[in-house]
Amino acid sequence: MSVRSTPSPKRIKRKGSNNNDQTPKVDLIIIHANELVTMDSTYGVPRTGLNMKNLAIIQDGAVAISRNSIIFVGTTQELIANFPPSLETVIIDATNRLVTPGFIDPHTHIIFDGYRENELEMKLLGKSYMEILESGGGILKTVKATRNASLARLIKNGKNILNRMLEYGTTTIETKSGYGLDTENEIKSLIAAKELNLEQPIDIISTFLGAHAVPPEYNGRTDEYVEVIISEMIPRIAKEGLAEFCDVFCEEGIFSIDQAKEILSTAMKYGMKPQIHIDEIVDTNGALLAADLSAVQVGHLLKSNDIGLEALKRTKTIATLLPGTPFCLMLKEYAPARKMIEMGIPIALATDLNPNCWTESMQMIIALACYHMKLSPAEALTAATINAACAIERQDEIGSIEVGKKADIVVFDVPNHNFLPYQFGVNLVSKVIKNGEIVVDFENLA
Ligand code: NIG
Ligand code: FE
Repeated sequence: MSVRSTPSPKRIKRKGSNNNDQTPKVDLIIIHANELVTMDSTYGVPRTGLNMKNLAIIQDGAVAISRNSIIFVGTTQELIANFPPSLETVIIDATNRLVTPGFIDPHTHIIFDGYRENELEMKLLGKSYMEILESGGGILKTVKATRNASLARLIKNGKNILNRMLEYGTTTIETKSGYGLDTENEIKSLIAAKELNLEQPIDIISTFLGAHAVPPEYNGRTDEYVEVIISEMIPRIAKEGLAEFCDVFCEEGIFSIDQAKEILSTAMKYGMKPQIHIDEIVDTNGALLAADLSAVQVGHLLKSNDIGLEALKRTKTIATLLPGTPFCLMLKEYAPARKMIEMGIPIALATDLNPNCWTESMQMIIALACYHMKLSPAEALTAATINAACAIERQDEIGSIEVGKKADIVVFDVPNHNFLPYQFGVNLVSKVIKNGEIVVDFENLA
């Protein structure tokens, strides 16, 4: 891993040309970070192969923030020389601490009602994910509860989840519909996501996942349900501007490759960008489909074959790995992350938070990625920040600590990034800065 100890101060990026000679007001500075993980673009965006280990760390690092943007990144000495703090400047002393870009969780399902805690006993008795689903549990149980829930209730549930995510250092997420499975309830879910985006600090990118399961009223008539998605749901959702992405659960017994292709090509015609759940339980050649469609990201990839992975490698598609899911399903197999990294496929990490796999913590996911998929701590952190930004096409705004980017930053109460998976199962966050504001502060609790 590369450690840059004396970088030259970055130029200040100013908006517009009229105020070029004005120094922006510095609202907040972070100084003396033991390790400032900048994740800057020097090592590629997204980072692949060996570059996944290059975090572009600055020792005794410092960041200056004006309003919601980063205006300086360098050493503490350089910062003090260029931006001496005024009486109004908020100062965070990060001595002995790790500072990183805010986590980005690019694959979640937070809009739902009800719980599925009873399914753990079923799994312990050897029931598979598909068996639980076929017996009316799984996604279908959540669909029933979500259809019965009011919009206000979905928003309240979402807020609880988002509050916890923020406390664990996540500053941007992608989330999906997919527990409504009819036009009205899919729209209700996407409106909940839109409202949540406005009502709390985490930025939310919305995805339409009407093809998450076949609803009970269409049991045995999957093609007819696909027709509803294509001719009714996608046009309505596109017209109302409720989703940037469209996703499909492409899996044996759920939606086939052909159905996924039909749904995603229609969504693309309506201006939505494609992503797919692929090869989670069975290899259905999902990776090849993703490459064919140039999907922005694909999730799971536990069973993807080599031909598919080779094809993916030739695209810009991000492989978003979701180790929380095999963990909760008690599977022995995880996605072949090492192989993908060696092939040069860009990988991201996400929680996949859903009622089957419920964690708000990207720290937990980083630990699972290291212990079960053999990622190094540095690779896992890359996958949870800059590469995760690429998975939702936000790499120009977030994912690294660089001049001009949004000030979404986490201060951890540990000295370096190796601690993130090492000290696991607890929250290591000290402070979270979102859009330039301190929104979580565990050190200054009364
Ligand atoms: O990504 N596999 C499909 N969808 C989700 C799980 C949804 C659920 O079980 O409720 C996933 O794992
Ligand atoms: Fe998922």
